[in-house]
Amino acid sequence: MFRVPVNTQSSGLVRYNEDTKEFHIQGKDFSYIFNILRNKQLGHIYYGKRIHHSESYSHLIVIEPKATSSCVYEGDLAFSLDMLKQEYPAYGTTDYREPAYQIHQKNGSRITNFEYKSHQIYDGKPKLDGLPATYTENGDEAVTLEITLHDKLIDMDIILLYTVYKELNVLTRSTKFINHGKLSLDLSRAMSTSVDFFDSDFEMIQLSGSWARERHLLSRPLRPGIQSISSTRGTSSTQQNPFVALKRKETNEHIGEVFGFSFVYSGNFLAQIEVDQYDVSRIMMGIHPFDFNWKLESGESFQTPEVVMVYSDQGINGMSQTYHKLYRTRLAKGEWRDKTRPVLINNWEATYFDFDEGKILTIANTAKDLGIELFVLDDGWFGNRDTDKTSLGDWYPNIQKLPNGIVGLAEKITKLGLKFGFWFEPEMVSKVSELYSQHPDWIIHVPNRHSSHGRNQFVLDFSRREVVDHIYERMSALLRAAPISYVKWDMNRYMTEIGSAGLPADRQKEVPHRYILGVYDLYDRLTSEFPHVLFESCASGGARFDPGMLYYAPQAWTSDDTDAIERLKIQYGTSVVYPLSSMGAHVSAVPNHQVKRSTSLETRANVAYFGMFGYELDVTKMPEEEKQQLRKQINFYKENRDIIQNGTFYRLKSPFEDAGNVTAWVVVSQDQKQAIAGYYQVLAKPNPGYSKLLLKGLNPDYQYKIEGKVGKRFGNELMNAGIIMDGEYSGLDAEGIDFGGDFSSRIFKMEAEI
Ligand code: DGJ
Repeated sequence: MFRVPVNTQSSGLVRYNEDTKEFHIQGKDFSYIFNILRNKQLGHIYYGKRIHHSESYSHLIVIEPKATSSCVYEGDLAFSLDMLKQEYPAYGTTDYREPAYQIHQKNGSRITNFEYKSHQIYDGKPKLDGLPATYTENGDEAVTLEITLHDKLIDMDIILLYTVYKELNVLTRSTKFINHGKLSLDLSRAMSTSVDFFDSDFEMIQLSGSWARERHLLSRPLRPGIQSISSTRGTSSTQQNPFVALKRKETNEHIGEVFGFSFVYSGNFLAQIEVDQYDVSRIMMGIHPFDFNWKLESGESFQTPEVVMVYSDQGINGMSQTYHKLYRTRLAKGEWRDKTRPVLINNWEATYFDFDEGKILTIANTAKDLGIELFVLDDGWFGNRDTDKTSLGDWYPNIQKLPNGIVGLAEKITKLGLKFGFWFEPEMVSKVSELYSQHPDWIIHVPNRHSSHGRNQFVLDFSRREVVDHIYERMSALLRAAPISYVKWDMNRYMTEIGSAGLPADRQKEVPHRYILGVYDLYDRLTSEFPHVLFESCASGGARFDPGMLYYAPQAWTSDDTDAIERLKIQYGTSVVYPLSSMGAHVSAVPNHQVKRSTSLETRANVAYFGMFGYELDVTKMPEEEKQQLRKQINFYKENRDIIQNGTFYRLKSPFEDAGNVTAWVVVSQDQKQAIAGYYQVLAKPNPGYSKLLLKGLNPDYQYKIEGKVGKRFGNELMNAGIIMDGEYSGLDAEGIDFGGDFSSRIFKMEAEI
């Protein structure tokens, strides 16, 4: 943490005007302005495109009497908090919109009066205790503004934390509540951010779905009243991702304004937009207040997770690229953040639970021969785990399947010249297990009530330190004993009947958040102790694909759905927030196990290339001709993975628009000298017209050679005249290359010759 107080007036990126009591945060391309109101609460003035700094913005605040409004000061019919835009709105004092926080006091009151007390501006960004968050590596990358609000009656502070990055259009926000008073307080709502936009002329973008169809991109116009997305499942979920953006109606992938809000958290969340009677849009994001309460005894504090706000006037791609860069370089952490990711093979779809050491070694042998670098042993290696009904929690190797244990297998695989990794589901227990028989009260449950299951399993109570300690002991013992390079950390069910035997009655609503803090604690201990291990998070595929996880595990299993055509939507939607370096993407067998579709090996790879690449099939059963194809694919990926992992990604054609028949994207190297585009067609059409692929992000003045095509083309030709895709639906393309049919795809590799 770099915490050198600059001063209270200004730091270049953050200015405070003592006379007007206005704060102006100036990011790269955006301005964020707010002030101290007459009643000493904070009012919001402006969030949008960067504007020059002026002495005062008071003319942007309208205070005038309105019929039926409730007013703060007697004799004054104009000063109503309902009419004013707020920075961190309170409950019950003339603003009727939903508040950012609510505090229940011993006497039954929920009314508070938090007034501006002080602020400081300093370089860098503080850590959030026990929580994942974006960070800086050098103090001069960002500036932080910390504002303290104080309620005299209950002697409590609220600290609003703002960090603005210099080179990126990013403003992060979080909030801390500190009870200095003598009495305990109940925090029943504690949002991380709240912003009142001047108007409601926006569409809301969300990433929604379900198992096997995660993070589909949807948008809807804002309407008066509340619109929201949320999770109350105990985890961020596949149903809604903890992300929302507001875009102008004319904004598309390439042009226009968009405001992104992404929550660095893996549990219950709420993102809501309330459009009020004057078309002001209040957006807030934080831990879901439903079934939440946090007791703050005297001297205790509560830190909310962070919201990362991104501004773009370069369309949705512009917003995504900012998220990608920030999350790839200043959220993901540890050795593996920058290290080249290995091409892996995972045995799940090849064997499910039905394997033994011999089978695993034959797959590994063939994999090595094909050029694969890492073998991942999935579910089924421990306890008596031959089905999903048993053994979670018993993290001891199954000696029938693996007579030499994990250590023996890992050593054999390492000797073949492959790295070895394996699967865990640390947060779960099966009732048929030694762990459950020894500690039946270690599951999340409510005494004397039925406990429901999900996939025959129960959620361990990670709000209890001793439970986390126990799992840490088992996992770390295995990681210490064997040459392990990778861990796939799975989590396959949502919470029900939420309660903890470790907490008193008045803290039961703290369980879901304490659980997530326990998960973060375990991740923190393991990633610190085993920095050389690559962690990949997973939750029935992508049910916990969120920035909180990304902090500890730089890649995540994007979806259990490995069908190439379904993956177009999943990967396209996921890329709205998350970088390619975070998306696990594997080639699997056909007919596909999730949707029974058959696509060519080429198309399956052409989709999986745009992620952290691997295979999930039985390579020993493939004919030699296909193995040869795999060798080529692996070589191609290895040659280009630096561009894929670290390049700039542009979505070009959306699977969610125009009937979704064509998807296209391109990733461009940092120096713009290389680019790889993917073009995908779902169904062929008879006798079609012509279309072209317009690229983005190339250097207009560089001349690019496209692999397999004659001649060179300037970047500005490729971006404006494009590549003609004639013959795309049947037969040959313009250069005579065979292309077409259902589920066909093309990869264009471009290299600048300068
Ligand atoms: C769900 C994961 O998403 C799969 O990849 C696999 O690891 C199974 N769990 C194993 O139970």
